[in-house]
Amino acid sequence: MSIAVESPGLSETQRQIVELARDFARTKIEPFAAEWDRTRHFPRDVIAELGELGFLGMCTPEAWDGMGVDGVTYLLALEEIAAADAAISVSMSIQNAIPTTMLVKHGTPEQRERWLKPMARGELLAGFALSEAEAGSDAASLRSQATKDGKHWVLNGTKAWATNAGTADLMMIMVRTDEPDRRRGAKGISTFIVPTDTPGYRAGKPEDKMGLRASNTATVALEDLKLGPEQLLGDEGMGFVYAMEGLDAGRLGIAIQAVAIARRALELSLAYCAERRQFDRPLQDFQAVQFKLADMATRVEAARALAHLAAARKDRGEPATASASMAKLFASETAMWVTTQAVQLFGGYGYMRDFPVEKLFRDAKVTEIYEGTSEVQRIVIARSLSGR
Ligand code: CAA
Repeated sequence: MSIAVESPGLSETQRQIVELARDFARTKIEPFAAEWDRTRHFPRDVIAELGELGFLGMCTPEAWDGMGVDGVTYLLALEEIAAADAAISVSMSIQNAIPTTMLVKHGTPEQRERWLKPMARGELLAGFALSEAEAGSDAASLRSQATKDGKHWVLNGTKAWATNAGTADLMMIMVRTDEPDRRRGAKGISTFIVPTDTPGYRAGKPEDKMGLRASNTATVALEDLKLGPEQLLGDEGMGFVYAMEGLDAGRLGIAIQAVAIARRALELSLAYCAERRQFDRPLQDFQAVQFKLADMATRVEAARALAHLAAARKDRGEPATASASMAKLFASETAMWVTTQAVQLFGGYGYMRDFPVEKLFRDAKVTEIYEGTSEVQRIVIARSLSGR
């Protein structure tokens, strides 16, 4: 039995896409991932190549220059990229999910022509800035402000932990558009489309992170950043809802990223346990080791199945918010658990930077934190159970 997704059961299109993604991942990403991690190098050229293959606009309809594939097919490709390096997959995941969903659902024809089409063709890299230093899980309490200046909007504030803030071409930025003395909570937030070369947009220095070190994460200072009315996305005051819709899609991407990290840790563990001998036997001959590997494999399969189930529900147009949260919750906790077991199986070697399970262990942690912590996913699931 293979740990990766194999051909039987896949459609011809899916098989071709998986092969393309796996080949790219194994030749253009995997051999360099450890070095990029060590040096915190963001390989913009590799992201551009992913774009040329169509992987930055996979679910965008063909009419808007995307590949137009379903959500499950997209997850199959994303898993292959993430298994080679989660730091690369996060750019692919965010672009396909959050800014794309926002523009497909709420963009004007002009906005789609101007932004969505080049994003789908991989010519533009897009990010998303919701969180602030004092507004993480409680995203609706964000304080960055847009005020009207004639027809224009002027944005001020600081966003935190935004992926690709320093490397994207454009960011979807959530700020308040309600009056400071008449706050409307989640309903006072709007989304703006902000090219990162707009005067007044300033990305901070890349954060020095525990994992995903080859991906760019930074604060964004908005300093009297002036935007035209055509840069407001959808309706004023609906930005929080758009962010949540985007995150419904985004959380599926993070779920499969976590599956991929766990799968890679399992693949490496299987190879190591076949080769490593202690007490005159390979580790794989010990039943305690066999049970550990069996549990790891079971959780990887279950996490992938949950992610695919949520994507299929979304593809069918069924409510999938809680399903996406379940998939992300289970897959991210699986990634943390499986990588912990992998480090344990590798023993002293597992604790060393020279062995790849150490990186997987560090990369796994953020899947329990970003795009909504495990606690936030439990809130979303619990609310859905009580019909809220
Ligand atoms: N789809 C559509 N609408 C939604 C929605 C969804 N999934 N979730 C909520 N809404 C709507 C609600 O219906 C509500 O509208 P109405 O009043 O009209 O009903 C409105 O949004 C407000 O919703 P809530 O009352 O549920 O809002 P809340 O303040 O209680 O927050 C929360 C709920 C789930 C905790 C939310 O704040 C949340 O998800 N927090 C985590 C934020 C997060 O994931 N941040 C990650 C940032 S991105 C990142 O990690 C960095 C990166 O670059 C990858």
